[in-house]
Amino acid sequence: MSQAQKTLTITTGLAGKVSGDIIVPGDKSCSHRSIMFGSLAEGTTNVSGFLPGDDCLATMNAFKAMGIKIEGPDEQQNVVIHGKGLFGLTAPGNALNIGNSGTTIRLMSGLLAGQKFASEMAGDSSLNKRPMARVVDPLKLMGASISAAENGTPPVICQGVEEGQSLKAIHYDLPMASAQVKSCVLLAGMYANGVTSVTEPGITRDHTERMLTAFGYPVTVEDTPIGKKVSIEGGHKLTACDIQVPGDISSATFFMVAGLIAKEGELIIRNVGMNPTRIGSINILQQMNGDLTIINERMAGGEPVADVVVKSSQLKGIDVNERDVPLAIDEFPAIFIAAACAKGTTRLRGAEELRVKESDRIQAMADGLKELDIDCTVFDDGIDIVGGQLTSGTIHSHDDHRIAMSFAISSLRASGEIKILECDNVATSFPNFVTLANQVGLTLNQA
Ligand code: S3P
Repeated sequence: MSQAQKTLTITTGLAGKVSGDIIVPGDKSCSHRSIMFGSLAEGTTNVSGFLPGDDCLATMNAFKAMGIKIEGPDEQQNVVIHGKGLFGLTAPGNALNIGNSGTTIRLMSGLLAGQKFASEMAGDSSLNKRPMARVVDPLKLMGASISAAENGTPPVICQGVEEGQSLKAIHYDLPMASAQVKSCVLLAGMYANGVTSVTEPGITRDHTERMLTAFGYPVTVEDTPIGKKVSIEGGHKLTACDIQVPGDISSATFFMVAGLIAKEGELIIRNVGMNPTRIGSINILQQMNGDLTIINERMAGGEPVADVVVKSSQLKGIDVNERDVPLAIDEFPAIFIAAACAKGTTRLRGAEELRVKESDRIQAMADGLKELDIDCTVFDDGIDIVGGQLTSGTIHSHDDHRIAMSFAISSLRASGEIKILECDNVATSFPNFVTLANQVGLTLNQA
């Protein structure tokens, strides 16, 4: 399989300068939700700034397969969704192919559990290894007839509810800080009798709560001694609206790290989503002495956005605050590169969720860093990284887009050539990554 895959070869290490004025593509989490909620809304929803990445296109294709007419994305990344209401989906003719997207399969498990038809979802070899019991278990408590394979991985097979029946409302204490599990239960809650609620053990991204509210579906949020509690009552409706998707802070983080570790230069990244549940990478990089300035803060489509000015900085190692872990959960591969370029040791703990992402991100990053002669020690729930001189080598990205992009950025401080294997999945979240990287001063060759 890897033979047919794209390889990124970075032929010049030590590219001195990173500079420019860029816009990163739309937020992946918001793009998924815009398709899901737009499809279940009554009326026509217009989405702007949609991410045309493979993951979001997988969500779009799944809803098309269930009878929803969706136009776009056009060249400006506008999408038009002709929603058919909460009960407007029709049975897909075949099993739904979800590709690489954990968000799609987990959120859709909640939605499909409430439908009156049977369905099946599976994806690529990476997705098919990821844990689904975390969504199947609470859905079963809600009375759903749903299952995963014996070892808890896809396919997720759902029988749907019988005519005249509906799901049962529950309260669920999330065993892990996961926005996907929270969202899955809340979305099933739209199809349940009564009020379904979820308590989260750590703050997770709240795009579901914000976007459901924008679509006119009531959601209640309260603080409790054990964490935030989110409640939703079944039986309300979604009303079509206009959604402006902010730029993805996860994609922006690769360029923040690039600008910080480059020898010189100043980079401006425009229209970056600044949702408080997503800004862990900014907190962590600033604590590492990163010169990041947030300007032009504003609201767009119910989400805070801003521009980020990045200046080359001498980074220092830190102990990452555990409170920032769920707020930066997708950004750690890039942050590990910053740590490898920092003076001293960076220590991360409480991040065991990194082991069940698109790859085991603790191990995949540690293996790659060691290949480049960076000293690091792996723990069950984290890693210690000692900053040093990155050298040259061949990196396996394990089909994980964020591993591939992180090592691409690392070339700015490497003394020789870096080859990164299995790079096709960069297109899942950041289709124009290579173009944008080369535009700001990196030298990435894709073959
Ligand atoms: C996401 C939630 C996170 C994140 C993923 C997107 C979402 O996953 O890693 O990339 O859109 O809800 P978890 O809920 O598993 O932490």
